[in-house]
Amino acid sequence: MDQPAVEQTLRELERKLLELEETLHAIAAGGVTERRTDAPPARPEAPSPGPAPVFGRIVDETVADRPGPSEGPSWARAAPPHNEPPEGAPAPNPAPARRPSSPPRSTPEEGRPPAPAELLRFRERLERAARDLAHDYDELLGRLSYPSMPTSPPRTISFARGVPSLDIIDVEGLREAAVRAFNSDPEGTTAYGTAVGYPRLRSWIADKHGVEPERVLVTNGSLQADAFLFDHLVRAGDEVIVESPTYDRTLLGLRQRGAQLHAIELTRDGIDTDALGHLLSQGAKPKLAHIIPNFQNPAGYTLSLQRRQALLSLAEAYDFMILEDDPYGELRFTGENVPTMLSLDGKHVVYASSFTKTVAPGVRVGYLVGPVELIAALTKQATNTYISPNMVAQSLVYEFCASGAIERSIETVKTALAERARTLADALRSELAEAEFVEPQGGYFMWVTLPEGTDVHALFDAAAERGVTFVKGTDFLLEGGENTLRLAYSGVTPAEIETGIGRLAEAYRSLQG
Ligand SMILES: Cc1ncc(COP(=O)(O)O)c(C=O)c1O
Repeated sequence: MDQPAVEQTLRELERKLLELEETLHAIAAGGVTERRTDAPPARPEAPSPGPAPVFGRIVDETVADRPGPSEGPSWARAAPPHNEPPEGAPAPNPAPARRPSSPPRSTPEEGRPPAPAELLRFRERLERAARDLAHDYDELLGRLSYPSMPTSPPRTISFARGVPSLDIIDVEGLREAAVRAFNSDPEGTTAYGTAVGYPRLRSWIADKHGVEPERVLVTNGSLQADAFLFDHLVRAGDEVIVESPTYDRTLLGLRQRGAQLHAIELTRDGIDTDALGHLLSQGAKPKLAHIIPNFQNPAGYTLSLQRRQALLSLAEAYDFMILEDDPYGELRFTGENVPTMLSLDGKHVVYASSFTKTVAPGVRVGYLVGPVELIAALTKQATNTYISPNMVAQSLVYEFCASGAIERSIETVKTALAERARTLADALRSELAEAEFVEPQGGYFMWVTLPEGTDVHALFDAAAERGVTFVKGTDFLLEGGENTLRLAYSGVTPAEIETGIGRLAEAYRSLQG
């Protein structure tokens, strides 16, 4: 872009900003009847509005929507009479209040005060315009690349949250699925439905796992499924096996119910089944073992086939249930898939999964597959808790799955995760060589061990000061882990990963003293 064009665009942006400010002033002072035409130009040499500038969304929109000089703002023109507030009642303040003491008032020239719906619409337009303006301005600055521009404080890069970033969520596909859900089954989508879940989705899940629908319970996220199961099985003092480390919400849910936890070490092949066998032979009597078999949260490790079989044999011999908590199983980007324990032995396994990591967390749809009697008992609990789960979400997810959009979504997520995991591993190798880790073959997480003596709490604070966060390893353990942390790479772009690891390394060095 050449310099005169840049200058012209800057002037245009500035002029728009002035106009916006004037309008807000006028509204705060009691309503706008006319747009001032004698406003001083942004700069002495500013030209009158010339040809549409390159960055023109705000300009075009405002020009297109702007009322004529004597018409006043759109909200003053269109208020339907039945929306008028009672005489003397103050109208709500429409703008970020520059002068909050001066709400819009009705004046004889203006006619009626704005209706609330119009004020809201006006605010939405303002917000959109402000976003577009800031975006155009940033773009312009990027092109000019001023070396001495003051920069705003760095945005925090979060390795803390195990969520997909927006760019890998198929928002358009979800929108289309929602439309199909309402069109194809308006009754089933809008009714209470049944506690077992939206029937078509239940059948789709049953087919996927090769089981009868009676063995499936579809819930509001798999955490809800876990909660039903824990409430059903675990009483205060009951023994439960957990992996060490494990998902912090599992620890929370089990502790809340007074479970006596046995934490068994997790190795690169998954839970140490020899150690578990030893514990059982010493007299432990667990009711349940909570296992995250694939790309474990927080460690990223996967339970080998041999250990899956060993675990099933222990469950048979010592008569306990395995909760196979598997939201990441579909997200393998290298290596061979390992069969689920559910498919190896239906008797001692209750399997949980979710659409959170493959579709979007906001749908809050998860499920359990288990023995018929167990599912029936949990269904009763579900009925007593909420009558039924969210049918709109489940109908939408069904349409998303049945159309094949889920396969594409999984591919998108896997491709992004593979690149992010690789970038993370490379960045750690080059910036923080002290970090020990296993490069993930799938899933969202990497577990990092720093040299003995590292204080993860101090590291967390030093990292936060430099604009990067993670979850301390101690949050996933009953004890220990002061030199460990979990890095989630699902919600950050490769560029953010590189910058974030640079900051983390700097924070680590700052503690070396
Ligand atoms: C192992 C595990 N189970 C369950 C969940 C929660 O899943 P949902 O969003 O379906 O409740 C998570 C989310 O991070 C998880 O890592």
